[in-house]
Amino acid sequence: MSGEEPIIFLDKVMLHYGDGAPVLKSISASLYKKSFYFLTGASGAGKTTLMRLLYLGIRPSSGQLKIFGKDVSDISRREIFEIRQKIGVVFQDFNLLNHLTVLENVALPLKVMGETEKQRENQAKEILDWVGLGGCFNAYPDVLSGGQKQRVAIARAVIIRPEILLADEPTGNVDEQIASKLMNLFYGMHKMGTCVIVATHYRQFVDTFHYNELKIENGRIIANESSFDPKGDSLA
Ligand SMILES: Nc1ncnc2c1ncn2[C@@H]1O[C@H](COP(=O)(O)OP(=O)(O)O)[C@@H](O)[C@H]1O
Ligand SMILES: [Mg+2]
Repeated sequence: MSGEEPIIFLDKVMLHYGDGAPVLKSISASLYKKSFYFLTGASGAGKTTLMRLLYLGIRPSSGQLKIFGKDVSDISRREIFEIRQKIGVVFQDFNLLNHLTVLENVALPLKVMGETEKQRENQAKEILDWVGLGGCFNAYPDVLSGGQKQRVAIARAVIIRPEILLADEPTGNVDEQIASKLMNLFYGMHKMGTCVIVATHYRQFVDTFHYNELKIENGRIIANESSFDPKGDSLA
């Protein structure tokens, strides 16, 4: 591989919850900028756990994890905040705030970053148009369908133009047509330079888009060498 430094580097990462047996036994992988990865594996394999590690929600029990070249084993709260500013996350359960409108939910990360109200509103509207929710600015999350909520969550994740986008089972709650649309959104993000990581057990996309596949089996990543392409551009 080229001398490019990975944006995410895992070396023999082990993770167990509490006193339990390791969920992830030894995860080693190098992920690169501007690439697209599917994270696969059976239900319970540890996909969500790995996503939590990458978002710094939990730390490895042992082994090394570096994000943006920084070892996360001993970083300050300030550094965690800075790293998270560069990572967009779409959680499995959306995590939308029900007392805020769609527009306010999507604009929230920009508020945290200190942008003006006008800037926030303009950018949130632009992204909501992009995900096909231009008519829903003032709606509250509880009147939206699962697929619409999912797209609000995606809009909120991408509004900061993250360097890394983590999406955990993003097509789990939507029909096939919307799932295809979401995949196209992720593809668009990847094309604009984001490292996109999509956890899914939906084989159809993995088989259709010949992107890198990181498959977790028995607590380890089984590299899919045949389709390995660090730039994730094999479809282009
Ligand atoms: N917070 C937690 N505490 C204890 N065990 C957990 C926790 N979260 C997940 N697990 C366990 O870790 C294993 C992997 O779960 P998860 O990462 O959610 O897998 P996946 O997303 O691939 O379905 C499962 O056996 C699950 O029960
Ligand atoms: Mg999961």
